[in-house]
Amino acid sequence: MARIAGDEEETTVSDGGKPMRLWGGRFESGPADALARLSVSVHFDWRLVPYDLMASRAHARVLNRAGLLTDEELERMIGALDDLETACKTGEFRPTVADEDVHTALERGLLERLGSLGGKLRAGRSRNDQIATDLRLYLRDHVRTIISRLVELETALMAQAATHADTAAPGMTHLQHAQPVSFGHQLLAHVHAFARDIDRLIDWDKRAAISPLGSGALAGSSLPLDPVVVAEELGFSAAAPNSMDAVADRDFAAEFLFDAAMIGVHLSRLGEEIVLWASQEFRWIEMDDAYSTGSSIMPQKKNPDVAELARGKSGRLIGNLMSMLTVLKGLPLTYNRDLQEDKEPVFDTVDTLLLVLPAVAGLVSTMRVNTARMSATASDGFALATDLAELLVRKGVAFRDAHEAVGHLVVYCQVNDVDLGEVSDEDLAKVSPHLTPDVRDVLNVPGALAARKAHGGTAPDRVRDQIAALREAVDAQAAWASGS
Ligand code: ARG
Repeated sequence: MARIAGDEEETTVSDGGKPMRLWGGRFESGPADALARLSVSVHFDWRLVPYDLMASRAHARVLNRAGLLTDEELERMIGALDDLETACKTGEFRPTVADEDVHTALERGLLERLGSLGGKLRAGRSRNDQIATDLRLYLRDHVRTIISRLVELETALMAQAATHADTAAPGMTHLQHAQPVSFGHQLLAHVHAFARDIDRLIDWDKRAAISPLGSGALAGSSLPLDPVVVAEELGFSAAAPNSMDAVADRDFAAEFLFDAAMIGVHLSRLGEEIVLWASQEFRWIEMDDAYSTGSSIMPQKKNPDVAELARGKSGRLIGNLMSMLTVLKGLPLTYNRDLQEDKEPVFDTVDTLLLVLPAVAGLVSTMRVNTARMSATASDGFALATDLAELLVRKGVAFRDAHEAVGHLVVYCQVNDVDLGEVSDEDLAKVSPHLTPDVRDVLNVPGALAARKAHGGTAPDRVRDQIAALREAVDAQAAWASGS
């Protein structure tokens, strides 16, 4: 499919120009100012220009095939649409507040170029199928860009994971030391989450790849147009099988917003971890100067603002999903003007992701890991207690008894302020007859990591296997996004 994403920029709407309406025929008076102000969407839907023009070119061709535009008219029409596109890009053609929406503004531009011929393009088409088509085209294009940015984040996390497959870290549950893990394993946990997010978007694209164009206002057109040909020309996989559904639903937008909200939640959790890791209490990582900020009053501060904004901006990603669902809920079929509210949440979500993802990828790829400190604390908090209990199980002790014996040993250590490995043979035996001197063999962190070597475990060798498998999956995701 055609890629455009990245070209558009913010629009400022000039306030000149005559009022331009596509529906003036039956009205005696113009709209009240308050209505016009409420109604206008061109200041935010202007970014749909390239998609609207793409759909217009496809529509012009279909009108020509149906005998409703001569070859010569088609040529002039396409020439004017191309010229209009250039004029929009250079800023020479701009919307005015008198243009209700992007469709109105572009029809004005076409009329300026073609005179009455410009008015022929509207045949068999309504803004209702146009806007549904434009938004799908816009989103399918931008989803590919979002995936490319996610792939960069996955790649940054995987590079750190490869460097730190053998770095032991305190693995946590309830934010308490639980069992030692490979820090690489922990980083890859985030990669798997983002990889699923990408898979969700790729799956979303199947349902988004349906063309509403040809549905007209709601019932299809009595003109001999071919929606199937238009769909193909616009890179869709099929034309909508039901014109009412095609103009009425925005589930494709809501589904995209869910996928994006989920990405936001994953970014937020990663952000929260990075905030903790960078704190004085953890000191697991040092952020690069380029990806941290200072304080205006405290000269010593180095703040994790990137991670915090990743966490904070998930709020609007979730909010945008809620807005969309709330707008859709209870709307009777088919098009209702409420649906104009679909665009701002979608645009805000796209903008937010494209802003946050590169910053988080940069933060991750440049952070320095304090391996000495991280590994030194990996067994703190009696984190090898499970290894001890599992050793007893391998020696035939029931896990219930093993758990209790090691529990007593932990209490002994706490009372006497010693570590699990520092208890004498005698005292071990006093705590429990199961605790023979060889239990100390499992009380080392590298051994504990290596022992968790079953599929999905934290053993450094398994971490390296995971990286190899993920690299293939991520390459496939990157290829999908770039259309190759
Ligand atoms: N600006 C409108 C929107 O975003 C376009 C469709 C308007 N259709 C209508 N019947 N008023 O939804």
